[in-house]
Amino acid sequence: MRTASAHAMEIVKATAPALEKHGLAITTAMYARLFRNAEIEAMFDRAAQANGEQPKRLAAAILAYAKNIDKLQNLGPAVSRMVARHVETGVKPEHYPHVANALLPAIRDVLGEAVATDEVLAAWGEAYWMLADILIAAEAQAYEDAEAA
Ligand code: HEM
Repeated sequence: MRTASAHAMEIVKATAPALEKHGLAITTAMYARLFRNAEIEAMFDRAAQANGEQPKRLAAAILAYAKNIDKLQNLGPAVSRMVARHVETGVKPEHYPHVANALLPAIRDVLGEAVATDEVLAAWGEAYWMLADILIAAEAQAYEDAEAA
């Protein structure tokens, strides 16, 4: 499990309000990048069909959870929901870099280099991978349980 450094957590908390203020723009920019990959786009198409609504919760969740990065142990029920959804839609560890590579440039697209400096993006990268590792571990367990059943 990767853990974000104390320094990264400080930066994430300090910049979370700016990211949230521009949350919709960042989300839009992130999905535009993510959906350049047809395989990934298909996962979201299936989710939208099953769901009947435009699935845009993923980016919002990353922004929201990252600012609670120093108390992620409180995420319990939210994690179970995400894991359930990810297992339904077939999310695997190899998909996580795609989201990181869409989200971090999207933050820079929207906030610009002056605000989204290399240091800020690196801190958000650490926050992302800390969250991702929690999900990846829980999903591995869920896939294993499903296979055993
Ligand atoms: C740290 C990384 C991630 C976080 C925090 C996250 C969070 C979430 C959340 C909160 C939801 C909505 C769950 C609900 O129904 O309440 C969701 C759904 C979903 N996620 Fe993730 N996710 C992450 C990574 C990924 C990755 C790597 C993929 C695959 C490319 C992915 C694909 C999906 C899909 C297809 C859905 C269903 C659509 C939807 O209901 O929004 N997620 N995720």
